[in-house]
Parts: sequence; C-alpha cells; structure tokens
Amino acid sequence: MYKIVRKSEIAPKIKLFEVAAPDIAAKANPGQFVIVKTCENGERVPITLVNADTKKGTITFVFNEVGKTTRQLGLLNEGDSILNVCGPLGNPSEIEKFGTVLCVGGGVMIAPMLFQVSAMRKAGNKVITVIGARIKDLLFFENEMKALSDEFYMATDDGSKGYKGLDFLKEILTKQKVDRVVAMGPVVMLKAVSEMTKPLGIKTIVTLTPIMVDGMGMCGACRVTVAGKTKFGCVDGPEFDGHQVDFEELVQRQRMFLPEERLAALFHERIGGINVVKCES
Ligand SMILES: Cc1cc2nc3c(=O)[nH]c(=O)nc-3n(C[C@H](O)[C@H](O)[C@H](O)COP(=O)(O)OP(=O)(O)OC[C@H]3O[C@@H](n4cnc5c(N)ncnc54)[C@H](O)[C@@H]3O)c2cc1C
Ligand code: FES
Repeated sequence: MYKIVRKSEIAPKIKLFEVAAPDIAAKANPGQFVIVKTCENGERVPITLVNADTKKGTITFVFNEVGKTTRQLGLLNEGDSILNVCGPLGNPSEIEKFGTVLCVGGGVMIAPMLFQVSAMRKAGNKVITVIGARIKDLLFFENEMKALSDEFYMATDDGSKGYKGLDFLKEILTKQKVDRVVAMGPVVMLKAVSEMTKPLGIKTIVTLTPIMVDGMGMCGACRVTVAGKTKFGCVDGPEFDGHQVDFEELVQRQRMFLPEERLAALFHERIGGINVVKCES
C-alpha cells in the first residue's frame, strides 16, 4: 500500500499525487514511470514520474482524468493509500551536458518535463523550456519551469496564453544553436516537433506513451516501430529518436480500444454516477 501524502488539483481534472514509496524514490530517475493499480481487479495505469525525493522517501506524479481508472485514482485523497505502485519502469532519460537543450512539454506531460528540465539544468545545459496546452487553464508549473530555465515560453492551441500553436519553435531553432530537443506530450505534438527538427539535423528525443499492460517487456502491448524495427515502449523506451518513430502506427494502436474505453467510462459514470464507487483499497 502506498500512502498519498499530498494531493492537489493543479488544473481542471489534472491531479498531483505525492506518494510514500521510499524503494521507488531511491532508484527513480527522470524519464521513468510507474504503473499504478487502484483496486485488485483494476487496470494498470502507467504514469511518468515528476519527482523523486530520496530524503522524504516519496515520489510525485501528475495524471489527467481521461477515463475510468484515472477517475477512480482521482477520487483518492490525502491519507488514502494506492493498492499498488510498480516501478521505476522504463529507461532513464539520457542526461548529460549537450550544450543548449530545448525541452517541450505538452498537456499533462508538462509535469514530467519538470523532472527533465531540472536534470538538464543540473548537468550544465542551457535550458530553453516550452510548455503548451489546448487552452490557458490547462497550463501549469509556469513558475517552477521559469525558475529552472534559461529561457521560458508558453503556447496554447487557441492562443489564449502565450504563442498560438508551436510554429514559433522554428524561430528558436533557427536563431540559436540548439544541440538537442526533448519532447513529451500528445503524439501530434511529438510528430510536429520532430518534423521541425529533422531538416535542421537536431537530435530529438520523444517520450512515447503506447498502451501498456505489464510494463516489463512481456505482453507486447506497447509495440512501436522505430527505424523500421519493432521496439517495446516499456523496456526499450519510453524515449526514442523522434526522427525514426512511426507516429501513424502509434496513433492507430493508441486508439485500438477506444470503443471499450468509452463504454467503461460511461458504465462507470452511470453505475456510480459522479460519485463513482471509490476504489476501496
Ligand atoms: C509510459 C507512459 C507514461 C504515461 N505517463 C502519464 C502521465 O504522466 N500522466 C498521465 O496523465 N498519463 C500518462 N500516461 C497515459 C495514461 O497511462 C493513460 O491516460 C491511462 O492509462 C488512461 O487510463 P483510463 O482508464 O483512465 O482511461 P482509458 O479509458 O483506459 O483510456 C483513455 C486514453 O488513454 C490511453 N490509454 C489507456 N490505457 C493505457 C495504457 N495502459 N497505457 C497507455 N495509454 C493508455 C488510451 O489511448 C485512451 O485514449 C502514460 C502512458 C504511458 C504508456
Ligand atoms: S507493456 Fe507489455 S511489453 Fe511493454
């Protein structure tokens, strides 16, 4: 059982949990994720780490309530315990002194980008951070990112805060020498960033979030194609060379269970209503 020591809603339907997990905190690095299970027969949900505090023995993660399981998770409160947290899983991000690193975090994945930004800065890089969301209300960690970055920009799809869209990145990428780009966020964003950097020859690392089950390389659910070869998102990634990823296949595979996911969310809402049965764990 993993006790939630801090809970906050940092944007609508986006929740932050700090959880007592000393064993995981001791080994966790930026780029890694945990798999969370809220009840015995529940779905296993992968969530990327935002921080690991070895002194406090806690890990922090942020999740978006998009479906049945993440909504169930969001019903837990400070002092409650999560049945199971497995990790750290996946490979740590490659952190070293590259020179100038552009970090792009989109949607809920702004959160784990904070861990990367902090580590890239500690490694001696000049860090340019960009956070983006659909609308201004979904932007978060503005002050935290600003404090850790040499340059900081915001963008929204509708232009309600910061730049409208990500086209302005072209200017950043051409006006100064950027040695590496790291991106975490929706597939459409990862693809757009990778397409921008490819002609410029800037190494671009993207975090992929294919559907996962075991997270340990056994089931094959997280299969992705990179440089024409089959890779497993959980054990070979989750970070890959953005110029080599088959994004179309990734999108198709992510949508594989959409009807079932919609049905599960609907059933869950109708049966439990908004007062969805709190996961008794
Ligand atoms: C390595 C990795 C890291 C992730 N990190 C975060 C994070 O830091 N914060 C966050 O909010 N979300 C993260 N996700 C996505 C998160 O796991 C899904 O949103 C979650 O599983 C949805 O579960 P659900 O039952 O609430 O919704 P569902 O109804 O099951 O699904 C809603 C959407 O989430 C996707 N999804 C469903 N199950 C999985 C799964 N097992 N693995 C991946 N995607 C799935 C589906 O494509 C669907 O579009 C990550 C996914 C992966 C693979
Ligand atoms: S999640 Fe099963 S092999 Fe990656």
